[in-house]
Amino acid sequence: MEQKTEVLAPDAGGIARAAALLAEGGLVAFPTETVYGLGGDARNGTAVAGIFAAKGRPQFNPLIVHVADLAEAERIAVFDAQARALAQAFWPGPLTLVLPLRAEAGISDLVSAGLDTVAIRMPAHPVARALLAAFGGPLAAPSANPSGKVSPTTAAHVVEGLSGKIAAVLDGGACAVGVESTILALDPPRLLRPGGLPLEALEGALGQQVIAPEIAADATHRPNAPGQLSSHYAPGAAVRLGATEKRPGEIWIGFGPNCAGAEITLSATGDLTEAAAQLFGALRAADSLAQAAGAATIAVAPVPETGLGRAINDRLRRAAAPRG
Ligand code: TXA
Ligand code: MG
Repeated sequence: MEQKTEVLAPDAGGIARAAALLAEGGLVAFPTETVYGLGGDARNGTAVAGIFAAKGRPQFNPLIVHVADLAEAERIAVFDAQARALAQAFWPGPLTLVLPLRAEAGISDLVSAGLDTVAIRMPAHPVARALLAAFGGPLAAPSANPSGKVSPTTAAHVVEGLSGKIAAVLDGGACAVGVESTILALDPPRLLRPGGLPLEALEGALGQQVIAPEIAADATHRPNAPGQLSSHYAPGAAVRLGATEKRPGEIWIGFGPNCAGAEITLSATGDLTEAAAQLFGALRAADSLAQAAGAATIAVAPVPETGLGRAINDRLRRAAAPRG
């Protein structure tokens, strides 16, 4: 259904308008510290179905529920001592916990895709927190991009992908973290998706090792996390990873000081926090340059597999994966 997508300022008026649209079952994209989310009332099956439709997302891929505080989270999911300790250590922030869903939580079955667990997080962005407080309930929110495409880190990215398909976007500027939240299942701790909270921080808080994600060889398997779909974050051009130089006909995304000739850099100094914040914007910019120049390939310099580098490399591997 085509609709006019309102662009709302992140002030009291914009937040009140966004909350009213959500209360009517409308879809509103909003900034989080990781990426923009496409929010809908997690208790309203029609709204949640609308999220899947707007994104063109397969319904077997469940959504993250966003909450205002730990008390709301505990009404939806069962927290044991370890889950509560992690929430207290890292919320609000870029950590999503996959926990047993309470039958009486009132969350639409579509949110969890029929699983008996729910993915839940408390975002840190002040606009997200103000929106959750004004709305007064849980918001289901996947990243606000068409399914399989690069996640949005500005309101303009959201408009580019979803204009006409959603009621509004709250414009809170660029996202500070720039990659999606880290997704963790418990009993025992398992990393389902590397993200904005580094694995090292999680393992430090847990005092134990976290089991690494298994990348399903068969992309048709029902995914545990989006990571298990082989192609994701796909720009139009092909992607070549580990590129220590630029080849003819390529657009080169650099990282660190040894990338003279790169059109774009994730971080000239090799800073992983800066690189994560730049990543999705860089992929979009490189894609535009590739299109304009008739270049078939985006080459990306190597990024170390530590801290936020794990999340960056995960997204880059999916951007480079064969398209389905
Ligand atoms: O940073 C983020 O996490 C952003 C912002 C908007 O909060 N959201 C986000 O949502 O990245 P999305 O839908 O693009 O990725 C969430 C993933 C889903 O694709 C799904 O595979 C996984 O979380 N997930 C959701 N519920 C799950 C569950 N019960 N068990 C395992 N994985 C689950
Ligand atoms: Mg996504």
